Amino acid sequence: MSSYSPIQRPRRLRQSASLRSLFQENSLSLNDLALPIFVEEGLDDYKPIAAMPGVMRIPEKRLAYEIERIAKAGVRSVMTFGISHHTDADGSDTWNENGLVARMSRICKQTVPEMIVMSDTCFCEYTSHGHCGVLHDHGVDNDATLKNLGRQAVVAAAAGADFIAPSAAMDGQVAAIRHALDAAGFTDTAIMSYSTKFASSFYGPFREAAGTSLKGDRKTYQMNPMNRREAIRESLIDEAEGADALMVKPAGAYLDILREVRDSTRLPLAAYQVSGEYAMIKFGAQAGAISETEVVLESLGAIKRAGADIIFSYFALDLAEKNIL
Ligand code: PBG
Repeated sequence: MSSYSPIQRPRRLRQSASLRSLFQENSLSLNDLALPIFVEEGLDDYKPIAAMPGVMRIPEKRLAYEIERIAKAGVRSVMTFGISHHTDADGSDTWNENGLVARMSRICKQTVPEMIVMSDTCFCEYTSHGHCGVLHDHGVDNDATLKNLGRQAVVAAAAGADFIAPSAAMDGQVAAIRHALDAAGFTDTAIMSYSTKFASSFYGPFREAAGTSLKGDRKTYQMNPMNRREAIRESLIDEAEGADALMVKPAGAYLDILREVRDSTRLPLAAYQVSGEYAMIKFGAQAGAISETEVVLESLGAIKRAGADIIFSYFALDLAEKNIL
């Protein structure tokens, strides 16, 4: 009796590197990546972030230099996070026209006008308590925070930000920001909404990076990681409120959500590979357990395959400077 011969032989298309390339379904390029950066005011020198090896807080006075470097490497977009020395109960520095939020966008756009600048629009780096809005006895006040989000958005837009990127996880934040921008004449400033944002422990290293002083958690405004239907609903609400692009955050542990949002909307969709995802790869590679470059490309490739058009990743600059992408 002759031996069994499979009819389906997927291995035929894997026989050589050329065949594998020809039949590759997805690919990554620098066009897909945006770089989050941390900028501290009043800082004399770069400050390493221990929980994120390879990432530094940029002194504000070095921001122009860094933006040129980032642009030269081929990264097209940054998300700005400020480390403030002017914190107060409501985070009012964020809507000061000469505050850190405004200065970051102004410096970036004046130095490299073609750089797409997304202004992370939140309060946690600017409030004394570390919460993402106005704190009342019963917790973070949604509607009082909306008003401040609108003010911050207008100031960032006036400073040149291309995108307002609200990450405060307040209900109605996209509509409130759109309304404030339009009323101030910034009809062309776009909104990249952190539309599906989970209350995730993968943000751990970010708290050190951004120097937030939070005690407690953000579970009354960010989402329960166990919820899938609600995750889709959150993004669809932001689409209805006028977001120009949506986002799922974190990325790696939420690829099912990313795919489902992708299939539920025609808007551009971003994913944020967050600080804890970065740290796990870095420390795993430092321990010799995994190969950094391969795992970085595989993790970003998986996020792309799951449906992301844009990926926020702390690896973006390194990949660009080493010509890996
Ligand atoms: C601010 C904000 C956070 C992150 C992005 N914007 C922290 C948080 O929500 O607690 C996390 C980014 C990261 O972990 O890389 N609201």
